[in-house]
Amino acid sequence: MNYFKKILQFARPYKMYAGLNILFNIFYAIFNVLSIVIFIPTLGILFGTQEEVHEKPAYQGIGNLQEYVEGSLNFFLTQKVEVDGPTAGLVFICIASIIIFFLKNLFRYLALYVLSFLRTGMVNDIQNSLYDKTLALPISFFSEKRKGDLLARMTTDVKEIEMSIINSLEAIVREPLTIIFVLITMFSISTRLTLFVFILLPISGFIISSIGKRLKAQSLKAQKENGVFLSFIEETLTGLRVIKGFNAEPEVREKFTESTGRFRRIMAKVLQRKGLASPLSEFMGVAVVISVLWYGGSLVLTNESTLTPQEFIGYIGLFYTIINPVKAITTVNYNIQKGNASAERVLEILETESTIVDKPNALEKEHFDENIKLENISFKYEDEYVLKDFSLEVPKGKTVALVGQSGSGKSTIANLVTRFYDVNEGSITIDGNDVRDLKKKSLRDLMGIVTQDSILFNDTIENNIKLGTTTANETEVKDAALIANAHEFIKELPEGYDTNIGDSGNKLSGGQKQRLSIARAVLKNPPIMILDEATSALDTESERLVQKALENMMKNRTSIVIAHRLSTIQNADLIVVMQKGQIVEQGTHDELITKNGAYKKLVEMQSFE
Ligand SMILES: Nc1ncnc2c1ncn2[C@@H]1O[C@H](COP(=O)(O)OP(=O)(O)OP(=O)(O)O)[C@@H](O)[C@H]1O
Ligand SMILES: [Mg+2]
Repeated sequence: MNYFKKILQFARPYKMYAGLNILFNIFYAIFNVLSIVIFIPTLGILFGTQEEVHEKPAYQGIGNLQEYVEGSLNFFLTQKVEVDGPTAGLVFICIASIIIFFLKNLFRYLALYVLSFLRTGMVNDIQNSLYDKTLALPISFFSEKRKGDLLARMTTDVKEIEMSIINSLEAIVREPLTIIFVLITMFSISTRLTLFVFILLPISGFIISSIGKRLKAQSLKAQKENGVFLSFIEETLTGLRVIKGFNAEPEVREKFTESTGRFRRIMAKVLQRKGLASPLSEFMGVAVVISVLWYGGSLVLTNESTLTPQEFIGYIGLFYTIINPVKAITTVNYNIQKGNASAERVLEILETESTIVDKPNALEKEHFDENIKLENISFKYEDEYVLKDFSLEVPKGKTVALVGQSGSGKSTIANLVTRFYDVNEGSITIDGNDVRDLKKKSLRDLMGIVTQDSILFNDTIENNIKLGTTTANETEVKDAALIANAHEFIKELPEGYDTNIGDSGNKLSGGQKQRLSIARAVLKNPPIMILDEATSALDTESERLVQKALENMMKNRTSIVIAHRLSTIQNADLIVVMQKGQIVEQGTHDELITKNGAYKKLVEMQSFE
């Protein structure tokens, strides 16, 4: 219940529509009852048993409103029948019914009409907040979550919340009102019969609601399985190349069919229960109505009460209209529970505090003047320290290269300098300012990042280069591409810079993708460059092209280069050799070669290849 209440805050901006919906539903409920009551005199005229009223009743305040309205109608009808004949009375009643039915449905429509603003507005706001949160949360949050599960939360769960709010809004307002109006009318027709009904209603309500409860548990399971299912599809689509290449189709297929099989079994149960719900409740309803028919019928037949046949038939009609609202009310709890479960999943994301946030008095840093310093930093992703007491200084205008075996923590340094993660101990400073004291935006404005795997989007080449620098014009984009050695191949494409590069840029070669990522960083033109060179083996030709692109880019900039191909960094001002999160050697290329240590070994190994 708690989560459901919390998620309702998203409905708050639209409460005017909720109010209007309630108002229209009140009218709907009134006309709903009237639409049945109006048939009573019709039947009376047909049966010739309509009560005749020859004196116009007097209005005596709200207390006798119902008697007054009924009396006036009967008075009018009696006159009409006496003057123009029973057919005229019938015509009058028919016209009145049409009007009442029209109004009833008009209000029903209006209620749904205003509701549409509430529904769409709320869904829209929740989805936007979820997306904003996705952008705001640190990268660490997502390495622990399945993408498909997040997708399910953003789509299915939001839909579920919408449905449960809509259903409860109806069940909390419209249905109880209908029941109250109907009951009042029923009481005024026959107290005895209504008391009899009161014994029957709770019994049937109980039976109907117990089916609902069983449904709940199963639906929740189905929702969870849906998340697994979506994750799997997402993973398959991204990994299609590897799956095919390794002939792993049967394996993934088996996993997939396992998930769909589970989903199927759960859904079959849900549908079977759901399938049982309607027939059973109709049968229950009919059984109750027939009991009423028996008891009320005997009241009419034995003349024990003043109940007329037309009133009795109207009464049955009224009773029948009460059954659906009762059903809706008994399932409201189930609906809220379902919404609550989804709300919990959505709120789990919305309420996750971002650990990497700007301090209230965070500094705006516009220039980079002196150096980047990593002072005695230690860092762990999970339990084990990946960097231990690591120190490094990168002076302005210099190129520092990080080399070392795979897993030694090179990419981690890039993650820390850009503040995708915060250090556990020590500090990273830029011109003496701790990165945690800077505004994230201004920190990242100072840096250009080329990640280890080129991250490109399903868009045109131009838009991929312009990511984050949307104001750049055509010449600037072209210049950046020239520096990145990318212009040559872009020019050759049929649509040039307007070519769509496909999902994750898969229509391009590995080297082309890298050069696009480089062009993106060049266009941003930041004072600090962080390059995480890709490991993917490029052929010598594209390696030379990428190499040239990197050299162009590093000119006149401060760079931290993570290099796998040592040829890239021979001219670096400082080469740092890392091993298991610590520095084992540092110096220029020549110094390290003379030293004849770890670096020399690495170089020798690469020359062999
Ligand atoms: N998101 C993460 N969660 C937990 N552990 C991680 C995460 N990312 C990296 N690690 C671990 O941190 C260590 C250092 O990883 P890092 O990516 O910095 O290595 P690297 O030097 O860049 O290696 P490579 O040359 O292969 O790119 C590795 O042991 C890795 O298993
Ligand atoms: Mg790496």
